[in-house]
Amino acid sequence: MCGIFAYLNYLSPATREAVLKILINGLKRLEYRGYDSAGVGVDGDEPKSVVVFREKGKVANLEEEVQRCTLNMAKQLETHVGIAHTRWATHGPPCRVNAHPQRSDEANTFLLVHNGIITNYKDIKELLTARGFTFESETDTEVIVKLIKHLSDTYPDMGFRELVETAVQQIEGAFATVVKSSKFPGEVVATRRGSPLVIGIKSSTRLTTDHIPIFFSKESRGQSYYPAAMEGSRMLVGRENSTTELHSLEPQIEYFLASDASAIIEHTNQVIYLEDDDVACIHEGRLSIHRLSRVMNDGSSDSGIREVHTLRLQLQQIMKGNFAYFMLKEIYEQPESVMNTMRGRLRFDSQEVILGGLKSHMTEIKRCRRLMLIACGTSYHSAVATRQLLEELTELPVVVELASDFLDRQTPVFRDDVGFFISQSGETADTILALRYCKARGALIVGITNTVGSSISRESHCGVHINAGPEIGVASTKAYTSQIVALVMFGLMMSDDRISVQPRRHAIIKALEVLPEQIKDVLTLDSQIQELAKDLHQKRSLLVMGRGYNFATCLEGALKIKELTYMHSEGIMAGELKHGPLALIDEHMPVVMILTRDRVFPKCMNAMHEVTARGGQPIVMCHRGDTEAAAGSKSCIEVPKTVDCMQVLLNIIPLQLLSYHIAVLRGYDVDCPRNLAKSVTVE
Ligand code: F6R
Repeated sequence: MCGIFAYLNYLSPATREAVLKILINGLKRLEYRGYDSAGVGVDGDEPKSVVVFREKGKVANLEEEVQRCTLNMAKQLETHVGIAHTRWATHGPPCRVNAHPQRSDEANTFLLVHNGIITNYKDIKELLTARGFTFESETDTEVIVKLIKHLSDTYPDMGFRELVETAVQQIEGAFATVVKSSKFPGEVVATRRGSPLVIGIKSSTRLTTDHIPIFFSKESRGQSYYPAAMEGSRMLVGRENSTTELHSLEPQIEYFLASDASAIIEHTNQVIYLEDDDVACIHEGRLSIHRLSRVMNDGSSDSGIREVHTLRLQLQQIMKGNFAYFMLKEIYEQPESVMNTMRGRLRFDSQEVILGGLKSHMTEIKRCRRLMLIACGTSYHSAVATRQLLEELTELPVVVELASDFLDRQTPVFRDDVGFFISQSGETADTILALRYCKARGALIVGITNTVGSSISRESHCGVHINAGPEIGVASTKAYTSQIVALVMFGLMMSDDRISVQPRRHAIIKALEVLPEQIKDVLTLDSQIQELAKDLHQKRSLLVMGRGYNFATCLEGALKIKELTYMHSEGIMAGELKHGPLALIDEHMPVVMILTRDRVFPKCMNAMHEVTARGGQPIVMCHRGDTEAAAGSKSCIEVPKTVDCMQVLLNIIPLQLLSYHIAVLRGYDVDCPRNLAKSVTVE
């Protein structure tokens, strides 16, 4: 959902070419967040001039545009600020004029990059238009940068940080934003509310502190400064205190600001995560963070400091290696990623399961009224996949909810509820809003995320990191299997003292032990799946049918097919077949039927007969050597057998591969499906 990247070097000379390369590479790492258009803003050759490059489409187009420019690339920039953006369009179609940076005026006095949505942009636009501003784009973003300019014109002595802070006080919605100005060269201001922003710090000498105390100025929450600031009668000025800034012992220092730490890791592993409403300012190589309120977004009180964290992420983890696409690499990583989810948490010899992040809350969880599993997209499907097992092992009511619908319904939530918020990115807006909604009503909040330092992991009371490693392909694959493994382990931990379920627990733990090997085994089907893709890639539709645990496989398989291949695809609950979907069946409609054996197998076979009786020629997924299931199929995908509740982990892999191969045969960019972005940070 848009990627922001910015770079500031202070007394640390770099050529313009090097600065632009850092910015463009940063954008390439963030391209999974949106690829409708891209842009950069850097200082020009003339003193105090600022230039902007913007291009429709992917970052590669912007790179070509930059290479064609006439700027002096060898020019040494001793201190310099560059900002960059890759866009996923919300307001205004993808085109050059709607690309970021957005500018305040023709002189580029202020340039701004933004991730999020401004909900009151029309009101602000109206006010600014009445004051003589004209707008060139259709974006909501342009109002922020023009508002900053208006404040700067009204209060010429106002500092850069105060200008941005005052402007964003008037803004409603979600944003992470970074601002550059020709009026304040060498200085950058960044702030966020609802969208992520992380600052990387690189210094050849020690930093002056390992944390930054926050400057607080007067409480402002709930008040609107907009009319006052516009009328020129009131200004907000935070207290300054130079002893609490972060800088290095030698003056040279570099800062990298990004929507995601994966864009920073190749430069430094020292990072600070900004919280909502933090305003960070880097001036003369010093970083300071300011807030107007001690109250955090979830109602808690601010800790008063932002720590410098050391990232454990490795550069190699975010590279494609020998794979054509990140998605393929991530599919193939699953034997290892599920192992990493279990590592240090599951002892196969003693059958012990300890999820450290939940340990101290287990008594509370065991006593709760119900478990609510809340998520979006693929993460929601991991909840669907594990619901039945969690009901069995915990003997608690388990509800699964799509975060957006949960909020739309204003679902009743109680103090003795436990909410699981499942999210690969940890930044999905709907899931975060549902989390805050439950937190405000006193429920215990459990985060299940793949991203250390993400909003969901920070705002949860407790949780589990699934440790699948960075997932860069927009279509989620290894995060799904690791989410399931994490939720299965939670069920095992909840039932460790229930005598009656011990045989079941043992069977599941045994199955988890061999899971990586079984996934490797399923991956050997790749060339067979590729052949199948050749038969299917020109079809218009593909149905995926099953029931029981594998209803989740149908939903997730169909989601992979539609998002990557743009074919119509539906996951159908086989029990519902006679209630409508059967009308779709004829000899031309491709159907994948999941017929691996479990308690609902006989019912699935009934569905199979209903399909074949109507001329359907299903592709059957069944256990290896199961001739009964395979009889009557057009072709057969044979998978190894595991415990019923874990079969979903093996069955999804052929469908991940199938969607990948169909997309390749159709000539689509697998890692960047059209209209989508990896991290959905807007509602
Ligand atoms: C589909 C996909 C999306 C995400 C959804 C939630 O392949 O990736 O459906 O699963 O946007 O994202 P997270 O898990 O980051 O909250």
